[in-house]
Amino acid sequence: MIIRVKHIPAVLLSTVIGLSMPMVANAAGGGFALEAAGNDVADIASLQRGARNFVNYCMGCHSAKYIRFSKLQETLRLTDEQIQENLMFAASKVDETMRVAMPAADAARWFGQVPPDLTLVARSRGTAWVYTFLKSFYLDEKAATGTNNLVFPNASMPHVLWELQGLQSATFHTSTNEETGEITEHFGDPAYFESLEQVATGSLSPEEYDQFVRDIVNFLDWAGTPEQLERRTLGIWVLIFLLVFLIFAYLLKVEIWKDVK
Ligand code: HEC
Repeated sequence: MIIRVKHIPAVLLSTVIGLSMPMVANAAGGGFALEAAGNDVADIASLQRGARNFVNYCMGCHSAKYIRFSKLQETLRLTDEQIQENLMFAASKVDETMRVAMPAADAARWFGQVPPDLTLVARSRGTAWVYTFLKSFYLDEKAATGTNNLVFPNASMPHVLWELQGLQSATFHTSTNEETGEITEHFGDPAYFESLEQVATGSLSPEEYDQFVRDIVNFLDWAGTPEQLERRTLGIWVLIFLLVFLIFAYLLKVEIWKDVK
């Protein structure tokens, strides 16, 4: 088949449009814009802080039940004492997994649902989603928890980090019906989000809070794919192996072909 040159730009253009469609669809989804977490799973110090923050502030309600403390200990390069003292409050043996302290029945009664396991949340929701979620709680007197969330409207999770972040209030645009002139409020609808304002300061500065949350997201990113760190080192070895193999393959080729002339 001959593709005539003048068609190529059209083909290219439609490919580009096709590829950018999902992004456009996301942006037009009417949601609150997500902020990239900017975390780095190779940053062990950040993973250590993230694990500590997770155990202290999240594991009362959420588990990370596919992660064993022994795996955590190995990755975070902690001694037996460090892991026992800093991270294992509810567990006694390192081969236990990161289970939640709260019984599921109580959780369901208190929050209307059981807080989900978070081992895979960075994969299912994305790191930017989790990062923005933890940063976008705002005061809402109608909500049972006293706060609502811009990326997860009407979430039944309370703003558990409010003492660190402080409290924010949100404003939303109104819309006016052109015919009747009637004004409609859209409080709580992320599609009409206007601005956030800090109304009470927390114990951390905004930058410190961002880092605090980024560390948790980093930990969750690692938890979702713990092998990604090993995969990176393994990848380098595979490349070295292939290079060495290439040399032998070349020598072999020279040896075999030398008589065929
Ligand atoms: C007081 C209990 C409680 C604590 C503590 C808590 N959460 Fe939650 N969380 C919930 C509940 C309940 C939900 C379910 C919300 C819903 O579906 O409406 C939830 C949902 C979530 C979700 C959304 C999961 C999904 O995919 O739907 C994420 C992410 C999350 N929590 C992260 C965290 C992190 C990180 C921490 C620690 C900083 C934390 N939570 C601490 C109760 C809690």
